[in-house]
Amino acid sequence: GRVCLAYSGGLDTSCILAWLIEQGYEVVAYMANIGQEEDFEVAKAKALKIGAKSVHIEDVRKEFVDETIYAAVSANATYENIYLLGTSLARPIIARKQIEIAKREGCDYVSHGCTGKGNDQVRFEISYYALMPTIKCIVPWRIPEFFNRFQGRQDLLDYAAEKGIPVTQTKAKPWSTDENMYHISFEAGILEDPDTTPPADMWKLTVNPEDAPNTPEKLTITFKDGRPVKVVNAGDGTTHTDSLELFLYLNAMGRKHGVGRLDIVENRFVGIKSRGCYETPAGTILIAAHRDLEGLVMDREVRKIRDTLSPRLAELIYNGFWFAPERELIMSLVDHSQKGVDGSVKIKLYKGSCTIEGRSSAVSLYDRDISSMDIAGGFNPQDSEGFIRTHAIRIKAWEAVKAKKGNQ
Ligand code: ARG
Ligand code: SIN
Repeated sequence: GRVCLAYSGGLDTSCILAWLIEQGYEVVAYMANIGQEEDFEVAKAKALKIGAKSVHIEDVRKEFVDETIYAAVSANATYENIYLLGTSLARPIIARKQIEIAKREGCDYVSHGCTGKGNDQVRFEISYYALMPTIKCIVPWRIPEFFNRFQGRQDLLDYAAEKGIPVTQTKAKPWSTDENMYHISFEAGILEDPDTTPPADMWKLTVNPEDAPNTPEKLTITFKDGRPVKVVNAGDGTTHTDSLELFLYLNAMGRKHGVGRLDIVENRFVGIKSRGCYETPAGTILIAAHRDLEGLVMDREVRKIRDTLSPRLAELIYNGFWFAPERELIMSLVDHSQKGVDGSVKIKLYKGSCTIEGRSSAVSLYDRDISSMDIAGGFNPQDSEGFIRTHAIRIKAWEAVKAKKGNQ
């Protein structure tokens, strides 16, 4: 049979590639350019040397930013109130292109290098089955012949040596990473002790906030229907309007000022707790700015309803259900809520923080005459008396019963 393997160029998927060939499969290797730092040509040569029939390198960065990243930003989606979903949002995009290639190349199987303990296996495979119901998955890390043979890194290194697989990384880092344009994750290894502080040289996408410039960066981010459409640097006038370019620019600015680091213990879908460190520079800036703009332009009750949906959306994305009816339903409600989330937010980046410094919109719901402490108008202060007395009816009744109970 023919297998389309999601290949990263690293040790694990290189050994998986060789092992699949050893099992008699014909392997088509697929690499997604999802914005990670990678020498794709070197990786391609490596896959061909191991014996891949062909290697497909696909740039999916634009669809990643337009389809999943900005959707998550427009919903302020964070898992367990904090994780920005960097890996979770990439998986459906990677899987969809993999299925396209599998179909084009006449593959009956797809394969990936995720372990049997994690979230990523679920995200990949739910996406595969959604997009190609007849596809079959070969998951080496769940196959006893594979996982019994490769019990640690040394077994993989021995196998690589035996198969003539070049091992590029000189010294293994004591953690595992997953990198894309939205974030990098660090897990496992020395990080498995949740009380171990990550070494300063682990962080990759942001400078240490303490070493960041003493001069802040001031940016104006403009949104249309809840999606960023323009970034202007108030200092040097740099302007970006392309969805991908403005995102990459925000990443660069976030990196420079040490914005977007996170160290958490999260609950995986499979029920395991996991310690993870993340860097999400542009995402952190965008969600802060977007959330702020909503204060100015979004109706209060619409916002309340949308706010009940954000955690649910985050959870289903985290759990792997991007290609699912519940995601379509919630996203359509979120999209509706975002009509009119238009305007600009001024944001300051400084030594790891991003601070909002102002906002404006042509469709603002804010009315200065009504809000003002100085201007009388638009609102009769005497109306508040009845409003408060009516609300107090219930409170008085409750307090009276409490007093009665207390006297018993
Ligand atoms: N814990 C994060 C998540 O589930 C990051 C997963 C990283 N994946 C990886 N294959 N290293 O989204
Ligand atoms: C893995 O287990 O392959 C990585 C971590 C995860 O998927 O949660």
